[in-house]
Amino acid sequence: MQADSQTLIHRIDVGLAERSYPIHIGRQLNSELPLLLSNLPQQVCIITNATIAAHYLAPLQAALPSDRTVLVHAIADGEHAKSLTSYAEIMDTLIAAGFNRDCALLALGGGVVGDLAGFVAATYQRGVDFYQFPTTLLAQVDSSVGGKTAVNHPGGKNLIGAFYQPKAVFIYTDCLNTLSSRDFACGLAEVVKYGVIYDAEFFSWLEQNQAQLLARDPETLAYAIKRSCEIKAEIVAADEREQGLRALLNLGHTFGHAIEAEYYHSWRHGEAVAVGTVIAAHYMRLQEQFTESDYQRIVRLLKNLGLPTQAPALDELKWQQRMQRDKKVKSGRMRFILPTRIGHAEMRTITDWSAIWQAISAVTEHTD
Ligand SMILES: NC(=O)c1ccc[n+]([C@@H]2O[C@H](COP(=O)([O-])OP(=O)(O)OC[C@H]3O[C@@H](n4cnc5c(N)ncnc54)[C@H](O)[C@@H]3O)[C@@H](O)[C@H]2O)c1
Ligand SMILES: [Zn+2]
Repeated sequence: MQADSQTLIHRIDVGLAERSYPIHIGRQLNSELPLLLSNLPQQVCIITNATIAAHYLAPLQAALPSDRTVLVHAIADGEHAKSLTSYAEIMDTLIAAGFNRDCALLALGGGVVGDLAGFVAATYQRGVDFYQFPTTLLAQVDSSVGGKTAVNHPGGKNLIGAFYQPKAVFIYTDCLNTLSSRDFACGLAEVVKYGVIYDAEFFSWLEQNQAQLLARDPETLAYAIKRSCEIKAEIVAADEREQGLRALLNLGHTFGHAIEAEYYHSWRHGEAVAVGTVIAAHYMRLQEQFTESDYQRIVRLLKNLGLPTQAPALDELKWQQRMQRDKKVKSGRMRFILPTRIGHAEMRTITDWSAIWQAISAVTEHTD
């Protein structure tokens, strides 16, 4: 309905003491935005890329208070743009325009734009105001919440970065209408993850609403995004710097990173996480600590949402090497996030590689 599309549907507060901030979830860049952005400083720089700008730059610019100096800096499209080179180029833009400490950076885009713009905001003049306008589902439910910012280095992903919280996050579900189905599915993998690690009821809701989700029904999307952000916000508020609880968000990621690293041309992060989640659940099932029916529910939901549930063929040694590099490895011991039932997961150290390998092989696609 037209009237509804003009109003904000949800607001969530991320509780981090003096760095607390709101996440606004609405349908489209709307009439309330000028009000919400009325405190913006005089100098504003929007960071985006051409793909996203074609759809959403004009509405965002139109929503900004008209007396502000607004710069637009577009980076290249793709993960390779999350680099020190792009970082330096944005710094050049800001310095050339004489932006001072009292300026604001607005990230309009997916996780690449958000992570990069956030790292620039964290370090330009020792930190300036930062606002996120995430336009991919992954960015809306995951990367725009929690304050991790970074750029990649040829030696690895996200190696250079900082924890830096935005002033506010603005999420619009209509932005997802232009997103490819593959990118959309990748975001859903992270949404399913929240159900598996934290909220059995949400997992059931996802099962019941999968058709509406896939149809990108705005209200269904708004609820899925809201619940995902609430869960992430709760976890981040309890453990901002990943000393414990926050590690749960890495369910499926240790396995997923191995696939992503080996198959970076053909596998997306969310797809690898979906398969990693299946491997983690299968491992627990082999240990008789996870039920067959819960395992089947996870596989079925991921499949129905358009995600892969089988790993590509990969050598045992390659798997082992890749997983040894995971950030959760402490003193050479591999630590995994493992579900004990739908709605609950724990971090466990596993020393028996053969048990892990058994789970990986069982979930690997056999082409012969
Ligand atoms: N900071 C964190 O906590 C965190 C968490 C998860 C992932 N990440 C990072 O996020 C990045 C991945 O983010 P992503 O999946 O959003 O990828 P992305 O930013 O590359 O976006 C995916 C593609 O969709 C395009 N796009 C974006 N919005 C669109 C829209 N509304 N319509 C049409 N096309 C659109 C982009 O141009 C790009 O081609 C990775 O670098 C990852 O490391 C960070
Ligand atoms: Zn992820």
